[in-house]
Amino acid sequence: MVEGRQRSFLPAILITIFLVSSTLLFAQTDLTGFWVFRIPTGDGNFRETFLDLKQNGDQITGKVIAGSREIPISGGTFKDGKLHFETTFGTGERARHVVYDGTVQNDKIELTSQFQGREPQKGTAERTKPEAAQPPAKLPLPAFHDVPDNALARTPPMGWNSWNKFAGKVDDKTVREIADAMVSSGMKDAGYIYVNIDDTWEGQRDAQGNITSNTKFPDMKALADYVHSKGLKIGLYSSPGPKTCAGYEGTYGHEEQDAQTYAQWGFDYLKYDWCSASRIYKNEEMQGVYQKMGDALLRARRPIVFSLCQYGINEVWTWGPKVGGNLWRTTGDISDRWESMSKIGFAQFDIAPYARPGHWNDPDMLEIGNGSMSADEYRTHMSLWALLAAPLLAGNDLRSMSDETKSILMNKEVIVIDQDPDGHPARRISDADATGVIVTRLLHDGSVALGLFNRSDQPQTIDVKWDNIGLTRRKVQARDLWKHAEVPVSAEGYSASVPAHGVVFLKLAVSR
Ligand code: GLA
Repeated sequence: MVEGRQRSFLPAILITIFLVSSTLLFAQTDLTGFWVFRIPTGDGNFRETFLDLKQNGDQITGKVIAGSREIPISGGTFKDGKLHFETTFGTGERARHVVYDGTVQNDKIELTSQFQGREPQKGTAERTKPEAAQPPAKLPLPAFHDVPDNALARTPPMGWNSWNKFAGKVDDKTVREIADAMVSSGMKDAGYIYVNIDDTWEGQRDAQGNITSNTKFPDMKALADYVHSKGLKIGLYSSPGPKTCAGYEGTYGHEEQDAQTYAQWGFDYLKYDWCSASRIYKNEEMQGVYQKMGDALLRARRPIVFSLCQYGINEVWTWGPKVGGNLWRTTGDISDRWESMSKIGFAQFDIAPYARPGHWNDPDMLEIGNGSMSADEYRTHMSLWALLAAPLLAGNDLRSMSDETKSILMNKEVIVIDQDPDGHPARRISDADATGVIVTRLLHDGSVALGLFNRSDQPQTIDVKWDNIGLTRRKVQARDLWKHAEVPVSAEGYSASVPAHGVVFLKLAVSR
């Protein structure tokens, strides 16, 4: 009897135990708290965002914290061990909806985030302290002084940079192949020398605080040696903040040490990108922050071109040379679109006089050959950058260039204008809002570079009178730098029919 009764109670007892324990299990997991969500980048690093969650029953509210951005979450639920919530990064046209789905086990969330239109990304969220999302303390800044000139970049630097084409997909093999292609394509002979690795090469710091490279770059010194063996130079990238713009390890607090490491590896060029430093320092403190690195590079006793990247904030062209800057970005990021390139390029004339040998305005890297602009637009890009004495850092895949791309990037007659040793500024002659833009630049031999740009969507004729560009009573002979031919001009001027978004680029030999 007793046995039978026990037997008949057993299923009910088991069910009760199951129900109670599962209720307890889910009830015990209260997701309220601060979490770090790490997504592996595939090279030994993690991209980190933070979650500040609040649970009320099965409803989840709170925010996602990415850098200095705090974005409220919506539609949050936690039911049967499954977490779901959504956010929107950015506003207006740049708004990107993100959906998060996860399962919770042992106080860890296996989480997937999916940006609208992109592949889902898998990671893990673990509990952390809210302080983890806070930037570190401000470092003491040096008193201002002029960093001695490093005597580099007497003409605007020329080379290649990985970001525009490869972004996070750059690795050792690609860089070696680009170096090979730089030589075999004729780019090196045309003057392109620096092979610059942009963001995402960085690994973690070792026990002594030395920066290491990640798994995509097994040996930075060997890579530098390889690039040097081709008669080229090599560059890399960092940020004065704790993280770079792509979320990799920055130089914060390791300025001297990193400069020494770059020198030991044999690097010749540093692009130093503000990024997360904006969470620590005020814009007015930027000069001191950059000066610190300028000094550190000099102390590293290797010639290293110093490229400032802080998007033109605080009129960097007025203090860039003082911190040892050889070039400084004057704008936000370029993209491979006519609107982006032309907006940046035609906005540079007012600050052109600040550039001089050793110290150049940098309207960002070239997009020529990346495929989303027409050949006329790319010729405008190249001509405008040459007139502006801008650094010429190709941003395309040098291993697979069309003949047209080669003819644009390697137009030696245009490169000579860019590299003119006097570095005189470009002058816009036409009104700022004219669609036919006339630009001149005096060259060291007394000749004049003349760009006739058509910003409109229709072909147009652009007339230039010698009187209007300071060549009154001069005899002018013209050479068309894209046709590679002398062109007849009248005693008064020249009239060019210029394709939509295109350019006629002339070099004028002037005599009395
Ligand atoms: C910033 C810079 C870019 C590039 C990326 C890398 O956006 O302006 O040129 O270096 O960071 O993360």
